[in-house]
Amino acid sequence: MRRLDQLLSSLGYCSRREAMAFVKEGRVKLDGAVVKRSDQRVDSALITVDDQPLEAPEGLLAMLHKPVGYACTHSADEGPNIYELLPAHWPDRNPAVTSVGRLDKDTSGLLLVTDLGSLVHRFTSPKSEVEKTYLVEVDRELEAALVEVFAKGDLMLRSEEKPCLPAKLEIVSTKTARLTITEGRYHQVRRMFASQGWHVEKLHRERFGPYELSDLAEGEWRMLSVEQAAKQER
Ligand code: URA
Repeated sequence: MRRLDQLLSSLGYCSRREAMAFVKEGRVKLDGAVVKRSDQRVDSALITVDDQPLEAPEGLLAMLHKPVGYACTHSADEGPNIYELLPAHWPDRNPAVTSVGRLDKDTSGLLLVTDLGSLVHRFTSPKSEVEKTYLVEVDRELEAALVEVFAKGDLMLRSEEKPCLPAKLEIVSTKTARLTITEGRYHQVRRMFASQGWHVEKLHRERFGPYELSDLAEGEWRMLSVEQAAKQER
């Protein structure tokens, strides 16, 4: 049980002071009855605001189909950012909604966002070895020998101390391939190709662990089940 004003402010609805106004205006109900005090302790599952159940009171997980040109940052200085594509109150939740790892500004595709630190850790910890699949378009004809180069597990990237873990490359067409990696190093896919003399012209993440974009349109997001994510095998 949590204080109503704390609960509403932590979910990004309003400040604790504004919660008093919400209550005065009769917008908040507990099990269908109008709440009288904003400092009352309540069960979040029974609260409604404007007759709508609270949004993800136990934590939020969603996937975004990130378009090219949006940065994974809360800063307003780097041009458009992914939070402009998500509900405006999500960064006001406490903890704030943040991306699970990052995609480069020039990369499109599946990005998870959450306010649950445990999920961020679980999905980004090197130990978890979560598979991420990218569709890659390069500047010149691919060679079959690259499959083995990426699979061997001894590919060293410049200024790194450890080789990349084995990665699965599937050549799709002359200049297009699918690459599955289990790490999340800085610019990893672009650097892996660059180390072998290919320039990545287009990069799109199709899959992150068990999640796929399926029919989610570019720039759109959808909620995912936190319960299922917590149960998922690594
Ligand atoms: N690898 C990259 O080079 N960029 C990304 O955005 C993701 C993986």
